[in-house]
Amino acid sequence: MMEPGIHSLLHSASKPLGQPAVLTSAARQILVINAKGGCGKTTIATNLASYYARQGCRTALIDHDPQGSAMQWLSLRDKHYHAIYGVSSNRPVIGGVTRSFVMRVPPDTERAVLDAPAGVQGHQLIELMRDVDAILIPVLPSPIDIHAASRFIRDLLLVAKVRSRNIRVGVIANRVRENTRVYQSLEKFVASLNIPFVARLRDTQNYVRAAEIGVGVHDLKRTGVNQDQRQWEALIRWVEQR
Ligand SMILES: Nc1ncnc2c1ncn2[C@@H]1O[C@H](COP(=O)(O)OP(=O)(O)OP(=O)(O)O)[C@@H](O)[C@H]1O
Ligand SMILES: [Mg+2]
Repeated sequence: MMEPGIHSLLHSASKPLGQPAVLTSAARQILVINAKGGCGKTTIATNLASYYARQGCRTALIDHDPQGSAMQWLSLRDKHYHAIYGVSSNRPVIGGVTRSFVMRVPPDTERAVLDAPAGVQGHQLIELMRDVDAILIPVLPSPIDIHAASRFIRDLLLVAKVRSRNIRVGVIANRVRENTRVYQSLEKFVASLNIPFVARLRDTQNYVRAAEIGVGVHDLKRTGVNQDQRQWEALIRWVEQR
């Protein structure tokens, strides 16, 4: 369970870091990434972080995007909700302090969720995946997005060599509408690579509403939101598999 002190930890990266420790392999790290913009990376990263926090898990949210959307989300979060420790990789490095120091999280962090920017490739991709346990790739139901995702998954396997690093990869069909069959080609492609579809999240204003107040769909009490909360069950089970 969450210790009392965690509630008073940072709600935004703009505050001083206190006595944090480098993000170590002790914290399970989940990277949400896709080279394609606007597919739901920040939405999934923030919802996953708030799910863990709600479970009493000591949670960090690490924003690697210069747009700072994940930290913006965190800044909207009311103190009443379980705290999430926010770190921005774009925080200025000053006074001889190293980047790895700035990127530190508390030593007892249990889950770290990393929000990647769009367009990551090559060396930056390898850097981002350094200590990651699992990768979630959100994909929108459009032919352009599906084509881009296939290319990105190829990069993950060939350039970043996720398999030889024992990093698990799962695809999330995001903003799914009823009876959509558009994912078929991607499902076939990822199945041929032995990569699972770990969740199908529907297109709903519940995600927009949650983002407006710095929470996730698990924190909402609106009619119909149970359906969205249930769609996360398989995803969480998959992430939590050892
Ligand atoms: N399942 C969903 N239902 C409804 N709206 C969604 C859903 N997922 C994401 N959105 C909305 O789609 C937009 C883009 O989502 P988001 O910012 O999470 O994408 P991103 O991949 O992080 O984008 P970027 O590449 O710019 O970082 C946001 O307005 C978000 O609220
Ligand atoms: Mg984003």
